[in-house]
Amino acid sequence: MSNRLVLNETSYHGKGAIQEIAGEVKRRGFKKAFVCSGPTIFKHGVTKKVTDVLDQAGCAYEVYTNIKENPTIENVQNGVEEYKKSGADFIIAIGGGSPMDTAKAIGIIINNPEFADVRSLEGVAPTKNPCVPIIAVPTTAGTAAEVTINYVITDVEKKRKFVCVDTHDIPVVAVVDPDMMSSMPKGLTAATGMDALTHAIEGYITKAAWEITDMLHLKAIEIISSSLRGAVENTPEGREGMALGQYIAGMGFSNVGLGIVHSMAHALGAVYDTPHGVANAILLPTVMEYNADATGEKYRDIAKAMGVEGTETMSQEEYRKAAVDAVRKLAADVGIPKDLKAIVKEEDIRFLSESAAADACAPGNPKEATVDDIEKLYRSLL
Ligand SMILES: NC(=O)c1ccc[n+]([C@@H]2O[C@H](COP(=O)([O-])OP(=O)(O)OC[C@H]3O[C@@H](n4cnc5c(N)ncnc54)[C@H](O)[C@@H]3O)[C@@H](O)[C@H]2O)c1
Ligand SMILES: [Fe+2]
Repeated sequence: MSNRLVLNETSYHGKGAIQEIAGEVKRRGFKKAFVCSGPTIFKHGVTKKVTDVLDQAGCAYEVYTNIKENPTIENVQNGVEEYKKSGADFIIAIGGGSPMDTAKAIGIIINNPEFADVRSLEGVAPTKNPCVPIIAVPTTAGTAAEVTINYVITDVEKKRKFVCVDTHDIPVVAVVDPDMMSSMPKGLTAATGMDALTHAIEGYITKAAWEITDMLHLKAIEIISSSLRGAVENTPEGREGMALGQYIAGMGFSNVGLGIVHSMAHALGAVYDTPHGVANAILLPTVMEYNADATGEKYRDIAKAMGVEGTETMSQEEYRKAAVDAVRKLAADVGIPKDLKAIVKEEDIRFLSESAAADACAPGNPKEATVDDIEKLYRSLL
């Protein structure tokens, strides 16, 4: 059996990396950019850091900001119409996962118009053509959508989020500049950072994991767990570490999949608009406990990567507990709520559980999880 690895053509990392966009646009012969960004970061001048680079380089662009958090089918379809009117020949996605995912869906539909309904893109869609070229500039340190082959769209009518997996959607260039993330408030830094840690941990224990992704995920766990507290305090080292750590996690999980933390978080995002990172962070330690007996020695490596000492001499029970405790402590230190009491309503639990069990990330979970198992997991957090 062979393993596949799909990554960006080019990626830039480090402070000031956005300056490289001008050269990339020129070298690739792009004429006009369709800038996809979120309305709030547009208003607060985060998007402008990149459009200033375009202005200086004399590159034409149009801005599209009709994009919600947990972006919807409608956000994508309006974007497709705006793109067609714009005369653009490439996309620059500036934002967290929401604008980057919307940009991917727009770019895919422009070059594969038979998927204009958006819903038919769910799962592994048989698109024929690569999407419109995307330069992706993350402004949160979490989703790594700039390097993944996934995007997640919300079906408001059916109250569900669906995951689309397609190698045709990967941005050609990723520009991962910690300065784009420095304006994130503490809560958002914590939540998106815990999303990145969830990617690294779920990617490390997922069924399809292999040597190269193991290497990426362990390094990501190490960098994220030593950087997130600093990033929440807005230290330059913390921001740089999180920018890099979340990207390395993305290089891994995009190629092997995730597990039911993400499935359960998608259900919460669709029903309550719960921020993706918050949902993951609350669920992660509890689902780690559930998965423990299907993970062999892997929690020893996770505990070690999180800085726990003495893991070599620990019993299986001890290192499994140490890994879960380290995750719980990090989540508590950065202010993540302990449970779902303020989010989940009793009458929704069955629907949430069914929705999570049917999610595209569920088959990757190391341990089988039925609707009843997932229901128990939700209930244990109430
Ligand atoms: N494509 C993937 O592989 C992938 C992976 C995980 C999650 N996702 C999806 O990504 C979405 C979540 O993305 P997210 O967590 O990055 O958040 P987001 O894009 O939804 O943004 C959340 C909030 O953060 C604000 N924000 C973003 N950058 C900021 C900055 N630099 N300063 C101040 N405020 C800023 C935005 O205005 C917004 O209000 C979800 O829909 C999730 O399902 C996608
Ligand atoms: Fe995620």
